[in-house]
Amino acid sequence: MSSPRLRKVFKGVDLHIQDLYLLEPFQIEYFPGWVPERELAAVLRAYPAIDRFLKARAPAVAAFLDATKARYPASADRSDLAQAEDTVIWTIADLVVYSKCPEVYDRLEFHTWDFAEVTNITPLEGRVVVDVGSGTGRVALEAATMASAVIAVEPVPRLRHFIRDKAEQSGRRNIRVVAGFGHDVPLPEESADVVITSHALGWRLEDELAESERVAAPGGYIIHCPGTAEIAAEEQQHRRLIGPAWNYRFARYREADGWKRKYWKQLPPTGSVGRPAP
Ligand SMILES: C[S@@+](CC[C@H](N)C(=O)[O-])C[C@H]1O[C@@H](n2cnc3c(N)ncnc32)[C@H](O)[C@@H]1O
Repeated sequence: MSSPRLRKVFKGVDLHIQDLYLLEPFQIEYFPGWVPERELAAVLRAYPAIDRFLKARAPAVAAFLDATKARYPASADRSDLAQAEDTVIWTIADLVVYSKCPEVYDRLEFHTWDFAEVTNITPLEGRVVVDVGSGTGRVALEAATMASAVIAVEPVPRLRHFIRDKAEQSGRRNIRVVAGFGHDVPLPEESADVVITSHALGWRLEDELAESERVAAPGGYIIHCPGTAEIAAEEQQHRRLIGPAWNYRFARYREADGWKRKYWKQLPPTGSVGRPAP
């Protein structure tokens, strides 16, 4: 999401530069090519402790952070620094909100969608469902009203706690929450009847698609609702998903903020992990 959009979506949320300390290593690794470098350089130079923290937490991007700092000359103007801090923190606002106030993220309306978009592809009753990139667990909790078991895979610790709390409060005892990524799901092969992602695809598209197929059982379904629209910027991923390598079907559906595309496929059937073998 763009920074102006995030400001609108998270209106009223108070973010400041020290919130960078809330970031997980993998989130810091998303910085290159995303966080504006001139502003990032100003922040790193003004806050050596933050600079050291980011490098220690995500050594894979230490060289990038050093190079960024070296590339842009220092400015003596304090208002430039205030502007840079604001730009940096609002570029990554969603990452900060996940850890700082997940309840705010959970209440957002903009990317809600009708869960029938999943169940009209395949019923979930009695199934083992894996929800990858679970966030605050919206999909996982909804799936848990039908499925026999739901495994929510989420890399941010604060969000995993949030999902567990929500599951407990709503009396859902069939949800397990685990740490993991779309490209590295900590489950055995063929362990799910249905693998779902909602707004959680595309950081490492090829690896994520391969991992979904590894985890889904024969005859199982993989359903991706990446929240992408019919715009040029999304065309490459769309072509890849529906092309011969991955062969997904797709359809348009409505989210709160507009028309999106969902993708799904069924793997060739030979059994189900949700039920005992005959
Ligand atoms: C936009 S949120 C969507 C959350 C939820 N699925 C929903 O629809 O409300 C994206 C989620 O994916 C998680 N995430 C970030 N990188 C990820 C990765 N490489 N693999 C899996 N999940 C990731 C984030 O921590 C966040 O919880």
